[in-house]
Amino acid sequence: MSRILPADRTKNVRYAIRDLVVKAQELEKKGEKIIYLNIGDPLKYDFRTPQHLIEAVENNWQNSSSYADSMGIEEARKAVAGEALRLGIKNVSKEDVIMTSGGSEGISMAIGAIMNSGENILTPKPGYPLYNAVINYLQGQENEYELNEEDNWQPDIDDMRKRINEKTQAIVLINPNNPTGGVYTRSILQKVLDLAGEHNLVVFSDETYDKLLLDEDAKFTAAGSLSDDIPVVTFNTLSKNYLVPGWRVGWCIFSGAGIEDYEEAVKKLARARLSISHPMQYAVKPALEGRHDHLVDVKNKLRKRRDITYKRLNEINGISCVKPRAAFYAFPKIELKIESDEKFILDLLKKEKVLFVHGSGFGQKQGTNHFRVVFAASEEALSEAFDRLENYVEKRL
Ligand SMILES: Cc1ncc(COP(=O)(O)O)c(C=O)c1O
Repeated sequence: MSRILPADRTKNVRYAIRDLVVKAQELEKKGEKIIYLNIGDPLKYDFRTPQHLIEAVENNWQNSSSYADSMGIEEARKAVAGEALRLGIKNVSKEDVIMTSGGSEGISMAIGAIMNSGENILTPKPGYPLYNAVINYLQGQENEYELNEEDNWQPDIDDMRKRINEKTQAIVLINPNNPTGGVYTRSILQKVLDLAGEHNLVVFSDETYDKLLLDEDAKFTAAGSLSDDIPVVTFNTLSKNYLVPGWRVGWCIFSGAGIEDYEEAVKKLARARLSISHPMQYAVKPALEGRHDHLVDVKNKLRKRRDITYKRLNEINGISCVKPRAAFYAFPKIELKIESDEKFILDLLKKEKVLFVHGSGFGQKQGTNHFRVVFAASEEALSEAFDRLENYVEKRL
């Protein structure tokens, strides 16, 4: 038999966060102990799912073995529409909500329904790599605008404006941001919406971490709340705010004027894949409408870990870090002479047995090097990881 060749469209599909794990596992097989600070799954550390969500799913287990409605079960969609209103996104009913298999599926379907091959979508650099993976898979063009490190990683509006061309279909916002932990100001968001309005673009607003704000003065604004007219698709998920990434429950909300045809195209894709997991959707209403006391504990822990991360990273010669304001990611800059950020991270893994993700896995300004730290790990694990990083960097200086 000759070898089976994969389709060309898979060639540029990259997802550095998981690709690196293979290297770490090879070392583990040799008996090494690795500190993993690479995957954004709080359950891999000491965070646990709120009990009332587990009970909600258990209580509905018996009556949810059938396929669910393709758009999602009614009580979940109603709860999401209610959440949209609380966030200030107007004129949203359950008909404007589609439940998706994690936020990831919503992102893939939303891109698939708007972009023809050869067209492009503006994505943040750095940003969550799924967007460009899907854009490449669908044979679109990557078109990355910069986030401004000197301005707490806010989107660079001038750069965004320059990159819009006749083939641009949408602008992606990730707020709060993965991998920087940045939270966008209302005025920056307003500028992005104005730009979208000028050029007839849809805004994709990924708000996966909207309940994980770590500072009083960092205020979250839902992009869809800033305009009744501009078409916005808001992505969210139970994964991170409610500590259930393995349940695969997310949603998208459609708002703004003139979005109906496009919304219907996404619904068509949703019907074609039948439904998402039925039982897990019973967690949505109790999550969005029930008590949120788990968030107090989660944010207290994350704030302490963020403070350690920020302090320790900035104490290392040759490393600097903008303070993350939300989620559990930091994106420090490497100011050392290095060959590449990927080699730096792999060598650090080999020598010190700590795993981060290299900045180029998320995209970064040309000529700069970064890496992403997941600070959801325990204070002890973080301290140990930063000792090892410091040791490694000192040896290189
Ligand atoms: C910014 C962002 N969007 C979307 C996702 C996808 O999350 P899920 O598919 O688990 O809902 C993630 C996961 O890490 C993320 O960081």
